[in-house]
Amino acid sequence: MTKIVIIGSGNVASHLFIALKDIDDVDIVQCYNRRGLALSKEENAVHLVVSDIKQLAKANLYILAISDDAIAEVSSEIPEGDHLVVHTSGSVSINSINNKHRRGVFYPLQSFSKNKHVDFTKVPFCLEAEHKEDLNLIKKIASSLSPKVYEISSEQRKMLHVAAVFANNFSNYMFTIAKEECDQNDIPFEILHPLIIETAEKALTLPPEKSQTGPAIRNDLKTIERHLNQISDIEHKKIYKVITEAIQNKHGKKL
Ligand SMILES: NC(=O)c1ccc[n+]([C@@H]2O[C@H](COP(=O)([O-])OP(=O)(O)OC[C@H]3O[C@@H](n4cnc5c(N)ncnc54)[C@H](OP(=O)(O)O)[C@@H]3O)[C@@H](O)[C@H]2O)c1
Repeated sequence: MTKIVIIGSGNVASHLFIALKDIDDVDIVQCYNRRGLALSKEENAVHLVVSDIKQLAKANLYILAISDDAIAEVSSEIPEGDHLVVHTSGSVSINSINNKHRRGVFYPLQSFSKNKHVDFTKVPFCLEAEHKEDLNLIKKIASSLSPKVYEISSEQRKMLHVAAVFANNFSNYMFTIAKEECDQNDIPFEILHPLIIETAEKALTLPPEKSQTGPAIRNDLKTIERHLNQISDIEHKKIYKVITEAIQNKHGKKL
């Protein structure tokens, strides 16, 4: 039985608590957060919570699901012992965890919000550990939550985070621009919903560079010029130009 202490009370800590408490061979022996909050109201798990880090229980695994900036400091406050300490961050090195511990990373690559249910079977886990037996332990735990388990180094994870910003945050900003252009012209944004879904699905079946369509890759200069004249928002115009040029450069055509 792996004894686990969950540290933190935010989005990730709460979802991990709910998911891990039902896993075989895992026993959540305690939750620590400085406000003494229960991680789940439904589970009535308040008895597991301490708000004083000096009262930390002994465990095999401490999961630091706390703000990136607090990982170094809080890990230094966990007493030394025969245990593994992991953080859950996409962008913090394994070395940020105090080196008196055996160290690892248990990064669930998904966007979590507190009140939105998480289906962990669809969440990829990116794992790293300094020692083989620790990696095996977190692999076993992650595999009981999700079939998507990957061994990813700190260097790879840093770039994975950049890639995720492009794939998630930037494409969402593109949807925002599309919606603003629709709103300004009294067009229901939902007309674009099937196109958004088709684009995302296609990027998963074909390599995305093979499914690029539109005026930029066709080198349709007349349409590009017409679009630029139609766009009144200066930011939208700038972004249209930059992305069009990037597509043209990638696919060997000049504006
Ligand atoms: N949210 C996501 O979608 C997501 C996805 C994957 C990975 N992650 C990673 O998971 C970790 C947690 O993210 P989150 O979204 O759960 O954060 P969050 O909801 O903002 O919660 C942050 C938690 O850290 C605690 N904390 C901050 N500074 C602390 C300190 N000095 N000492 C003790 N506790 C401290 C906060 O306590 P207080 O409430 O007392 O301030 C809170 O419990 C981060 O490393 C993040 O990068 C997040």
